[in-house]
Amino acid sequence: MKTILAFETSCDDTAVALYDAEHGLINHHLHSQIETHQQYGGVVPELASRDHSAKIVPLLEHTLASAALSLEDIDAVAYTKGPGLVGALLVGACFARTLAWARNIPSIGVHHLEAHLLAPMLEEQPPQYPFLVLLVSGGHTQLLVVHEPFHYELLGETLDDAVGEAFDKTAKMMGLAYPGGPIIEALAKQGEAGRWVFPRPMTDRPGLDLSFSGLKTFALRTWEKSPQDKQAQADLALAFEVAVCETLSIKCQRALTKTGLTSLVIAGGVAANKRLRSTLQCLQDKMRLELYYPRQEFCTDNAAMVAYAGLQRLQAGYRDELTIDVRARWSIQNITKEH
Ligand code: KG4
Ligand code: ZN
Repeated sequence: MKTILAFETSCDDTAVALYDAEHGLINHHLHSQIETHQQYGGVVPELASRDHSAKIVPLLEHTLASAALSLEDIDAVAYTKGPGLVGALLVGACFARTLAWARNIPSIGVHHLEAHLLAPMLEEQPPQYPFLVLLVSGGHTQLLVVHEPFHYELLGETLDDAVGEAFDKTAKMMGLAYPGGPIIEALAKQGEAGRWVFPRPMTDRPGLDLSFSGLKTFALRTWEKSPQDKQAQADLALAFEVAVCETLSIKCQRALTKTGLTSLVIAGGVAANKRLRSTLQCLQDKMRLELYYPRQEFCTDNAAMVAYAGLQRLQAGYRDELTIDVRARWSIQNITKEH
């Protein structure tokens, strides 16, 4: 098995990648649906599925052409099987499985989080196993240990909103565009510290679970009582961002102390946030950590990580069964047994 073709369609990015088992990533391309969903202030599942269906073939053709390869050169197919939006997942799963069936080559459905967790291995200088991952995106907020491929330990996760979701909802409530994370970050730079102090949710009790819906509600109450002008937006953005970053940093420190690990990987769209980076940098200095930030294109949803995770599974002998099966919800715990 040499060349793997991979698809990612779990949410609002259509992505295709080609990966060479010996030489690594050949190329990867992505079509973002942000513009489609922007006017609705969040991802509309039905529109996401339709757009995946429209884009998957042209994107595949483009990816093959730019690598000067054809379908005849593909030895196996990987795709995201879940968790995610069912309609969106079905587009990728049906397309990938049909292709594999027509070509009589193996296919493998990949857990989206497993792909995120192994994404740092795409870098030239990957972390050594085991390492801790803080996964912070629009859909996930989790702290996990990657012991080795197929062995992941969930230490804690959000009990309600994902961090990115809280950024997006806080921005939306102040009348700002989607996605809210980068907008809140830019606004926070003009904010004055100290006007409001937001809580650090769940830091006053033991454990590694997180919660962000209370912070979002706190932001709403604060906004309602404020003059709702430009300065209030900036001050609120700053107070919110600082609270999120400090909360995440406290939980990372706890997880590192608990596990004794010294390598921390930050992944997901929120990993782009500069304040989060500088807050964790302080932790790095304090705890003598190795901090890893996979390239932004490998941090956010992409098919390169699906190709890498799929290849590990294919090489270990995992194969799809004949049915096409996708999962909206799917715990990362014990996924080896479930596959
Ligand atoms: O990983 P990602 O691209 O997509 C998924 O959620 O799967 O993450 C997108 C999330 C959005 O909620 C967005 O607001 C947030 O990441 N985000 C940020 C920043 N850039 C993106 N949040 C805070 N600061 C940023 N600079
Ligand atoms: Zn993701």
